[in-house]
Amino acid sequence: MNSRLKACLDRLQSFNLLMIPQQALEIHIKLDAPPRLLAHHTLVHQIAARLLLKLTEYWPNLEIDEDAVLFGAATHDIGKAEVRRELSEPGCDHEILGFAVLMENSIPLPLARFAKSHGLGSELDGLEDLLVCLADKCWKGKRDEELEEKFVRVLCQSEGVDFWDAYPKMTALFDVVSLGTDARLAIQNEFPCEDHDPEPVTTLHRNPEGPQAFDYHLERVVKYFQENYPAAAWSEVRFYEGDPCDRERFSVGDFVAPEDYRRRFCELLEQGHGWINFTACGVLNDWFIIGVVWPSYENSVPREYVSVNLSGPYLDQDGNGRWDLSDRIVLDG
Ligand SMILES: [Fe+2]
Repeated sequence: MNSRLKACLDRLQSFNLLMIPQQALEIHIKLDAPPRLLAHHTLVHQIAARLLLKLTEYWPNLEIDEDAVLFGAATHDIGKAEVRRELSEPGCDHEILGFAVLMENSIPLPLARFAKSHGLGSELDGLEDLLVCLADKCWKGKRDEELEEKFVRVLCQSEGVDFWDAYPKMTALFDVVSLGTDARLAIQNEFPCEDHDPEPVTTLHRNPEGPQAFDYHLERVVKYFQENYPAAAWSEVRFYEGDPCDRERFSVGDFVAPEDYRRRFCELLEQGHGWINFTACGVLNDWFIIGVVWPSYENSVPREYVSVNLSGPYLDQDGNGRWDLSDRIVLDG
């Protein structure tokens, strides 16, 4: 765990807040999530836990997946670890991306679904989904009558209780857990949205149909490189599977021209990976080299949602991109 997250965790514990489930914490650590996001999830998780406690007290036989609710509250915005601007401005790019990130980290669908569903509000039908959505509102003192009513209706259906018995109990409960908003906002605001790590260059997209997907992402990575490194001169593109900077010697045949890589890329898109990274490695021999990597574990993300991420080149100590590969890679023949 990096020192910023560790300090954040210690600080949150000093407020006697319940810690989020270990599995949820590990995802934050793995993604190097900003402390603000960990704080937000901890606060929403706290509200969800309080709601669950009372719900099961009122209706002891209530069938609700408590672990799923707690995990959902603790990870629903996890996509913001990638789309960091949405920590401070509205947007919903983080929803589908967060879901993909969780699936990619082998989180089962019943737990991962909240990352995608929490923005749907009263369109939701599941008790657990509605509860996570409500906790995400109550923590900041926001009330949503339509959503609360929907929750009570679903609750009554599953429990066979009378709406007018349940409704006043639940609205009173939402009143109570919403108290203390100022203190919670103050806690969250202690942790800045911004940190000094570079934002991962990720663009949410649905992959175009068929081979066009390849042309679409090729255009993206070329544009990304040209805009960020206008001084780099090259005339052709070459693909390499893996990180060429891990090796020193290559032969010309190790690098593949776009027309010969299109089909391979389309196959990769069909394989269910959560992400495929295009690393703009730099320039060698008049070639713009793109490294392609994907997770080693199996996954089943639908082709259209596979996240194709852009990054690179490696930075030197001063933070400048080391795009000239001539001193790093030896090309034989
Ligand atoms: Fe949230």
